[in-house]
Amino acid sequence: MTAIGDVLEGKDICICAGSGGVGKTTTSAAIALGMAGRGLKVCVLTIDPAKRLADSLGLKELGNEASRVDPRLFERQGIEIKGELWAMMLDAKATFDELVARQAPDEESRDRVLGNRIYQQISSALAGSQEYMAMEKLFELHTEGRFDLLVLDTPPTRNALDFLDAPRRLTQFIEGRSLRVFMRPTGFAAKVAGRGASVALSVFKRIVGFDLIADLAEFFNAFSGMVDGFQARAKRVNSLLADKRTCFLVVCGPQGEPVDEAVYFHRKLVEAKLPFGGVIVNKVHYPAERLRGDVADLPAALRERLDDADLAQRVAENFTDYQALAERDARNIERLARELRTAAVIRVPYLDEDVHDLAGLAEIDRYLFATSEQREALAAGRA
Ligand SMILES: Nc1ncnc2c1ncn2[C@@H]1O[C@H](COP(=O)(O)OP(=O)(O)O)[C@@H](O)[C@H]1O
Ligand SMILES: [Mg+2]
Repeated sequence: MTAIGDVLEGKDICICAGSGGVGKTTTSAAIALGMAGRGLKVCVLTIDPAKRLADSLGLKELGNEASRVDPRLFERQGIEIKGELWAMMLDAKATFDELVARQAPDEESRDRVLGNRIYQQISSALAGSQEYMAMEKLFELHTEGRFDLLVLDTPPTRNALDFLDAPRRLTQFIEGRSLRVFMRPTGFAAKVAGRGASVALSVFKRIVGFDLIADLAEFFNAFSGMVDGFQARAKRVNSLLADKRTCFLVVCGPQGEPVDEAVYFHRKLVEAKLPFGGVIVNKVHYPAERLRGDVADLPAALRERLDDADLAQRVAENFTDYQALAERDARNIERLARELRTAAVIRVPYLDEDVHDLAGLAEIDRYLFATSEQREALAAGRA
């Protein structure tokens, strides 16, 4: 088994993907912390951190910019850190606005698009599929070259694969028929913008309360100048994702279904020729190695110590159930490693508490960054 440090050797970008609730946000933050601890300047782009985790990273909701996690916070929690940890919370709508601002040929057309009511609707809808904007931001940060490593958390999409599709979907939208009909020089927009606006349109204007048609026309006119820029950029985003310095990690749970999803997701990555780095199985029930030999005698041993036969019985049953879970997890993980034909399967235990601060992330890192011997020792110690 490999440690995450080996998987990320020489990488610029690490993308944590997987279905919702498995621990992508936690894992991304933990990886970033761990790599920063080892001397890199790392930035984690989170999407939906739990409030307490966001607070503990000093993340502000607004801004859409990376900010450095205050080094004093590490000191206070007794965490040694050689590099720098930066974090940002992605604001998809703001990212879209920045993208438009960048593609606009001049300030006037930028303001025309950003202030346009149609744009505001469309951008919220598109930003609603945060995937593309996440990669857009990633691309921007990577181009700026301020960080040694970027760790991207991915949105809580129901279908983990939406994420892979995002760049293609944006290109499709831009190249799409509906938009092109509008944007042809002789198209709808041009006609409306021309003098032929009929009485019907002014009636329409009265009904919807604002000049929808004029807004549409203006939007498509201004937007059409940016289409080439958008397309070129989407291509560059795609090639960055496929680059050998990028690495996709699949995060999953240890139960049957999440493992199946991880296998499927891995296959899609390979088909899309995207660089797969490894799997992180989170919330694993570790077997209690120390007790394994005496499980049969456990109720008796407990009765002696607890002086309460009923309680002893329940504790013993609980322990047996837990062992069964641990065995099931181990079988699933074995199957996962076999199907993915990879040694890079990293297990992180189900901790007793939610992970909501730097100390919690550091605890996760003990497993993510452990060598295989260290990991065995950790597992045995958790009895
Ligand atoms: N190894 C773990 N042990 C215990 N709780 C965990 C672990 N990993 C994540 N959690 C908790 O599970 C919840 C979901 O994690 P999160 O990282 O937000 O998932 P995702 O981003 O995949 O939706 C959070 O409350 C988090 O603190
Ligand atoms: Mg998340």
